[in-house]
Amino acid sequence: MKDQFGRRIRYLRISVTDRCNLRCTYCMPEEGLAWIPKPEMLAYEEIAEIVRQMAALGLERVRITGGEPLVRKDLPDLVRMIAAVPGIDDISLSTNAILLPRFATALREAGVARVNVSLDTLDRDGFEEIARRPARRFDETMEGLRAAEEAGFAPIKINCVIMRGLNDHEVVDFAEITRERPWHVRFIELMPVGENLHLTDRFISTDEVLEKIRSIEDLLPDPGPRGNGPAVYYRFPGGAGTVGAITPLSHNYCERCNRMRLTADGKLRTCLFGDHEVDLKGPLRETGRIEGAVAEALAGKPKRHYLELGTAAGSGGLAALSQVGG
Ligand code: 5AD
Ligand code: SF4
Repeated sequence: MKDQFGRRIRYLRISVTDRCNLRCTYCMPEEGLAWIPKPEMLAYEEIAEIVRQMAALGLERVRITGGEPLVRKDLPDLVRMIAAVPGIDDISLSTNAILLPRFATALREAGVARVNVSLDTLDRDGFEEIARRPARRFDETMEGLRAAEEAGFAPIKINCVIMRGLNDHEVVDFAEITRERPWHVRFIELMPVGENLHLTDRFISTDEVLEKIRSIEDLLPDPGPRGNGPAVYYRFPGGAGTVGAITPLSHNYCERCNRMRLTADGKLRTCLFGDHEVDLKGPLRETGRIEGAVAEALAGKPKRHYLELGTAAGSGGLAALSQVGG
């Protein structure tokens, strides 16, 4: 699968639900969103069929996302189906970790190799402010991280959206974790979408974040963990893990893009942002085949995103990234 700019597309992020058990302030309004109605959601068998047909076209890697993917029932069943598809050699999961104590082992056995955990604060009060759910959910998140380590997921990546005045004072604490633990803490710039423009003033570039860390100790460039996403990595001398920077606003990396996204209701998006999307569910349910729709989507993959701080214009009408899997 190649797009019109010659980028080879071999990575699919699959959103299995748009719902979540948290309400992170940059991601989802407190009252939630208009959820996708159940009959509109792809069944696991339908998702697996899409993966099968795409694998025949060159798909190699799959990441399961949400909303929060673990709030959907029986997720290990889907993982097993995807793991059985010839050509798929890497299955990963993005989660807030709250439900990992319950599911980590089953997911690992089903074929998830590695997890990315969203964690924006190391502080219980900070959690209530950012994730807008009781602090016991923070304790569960920490238990989830322990469960992820015990289940043998590797590498473990932490996704941390830094916001001025909310969690920017924790940047060094996050980085310090990587001295002892083989974790990869990635600082992500806040991306503007319809429901989070109230946070515009809190935007902070990863350059500034890294500067804060460098004021403690120098950071060495590092190839980083397996997986070729947009993050650029660094390491403290002798550190067990790394810190990474994901810079959608300050440094564009779209020319290296290798991915597409599948929404929980079966739309294929070749860019996180923009108003293009191609329906796969219709063709799948009517004809059993999706290759034509996939080709159409690839032909329309935009060159880059056009995000701009302070406006949702570049987001293509998205209310929240939870609708497309982040
Ligand atoms: N800006 C930056 N990152 C976001 N995420 C969700 N919404 C946003 C946003 N507006 C991140 C979450 C999660 C990943 C799937 O997407 O932190 O780690
Ligand atoms: Fe849920 Fe993740 Fe969005 Fe937070 S960032 S509300 S955990 S989907």
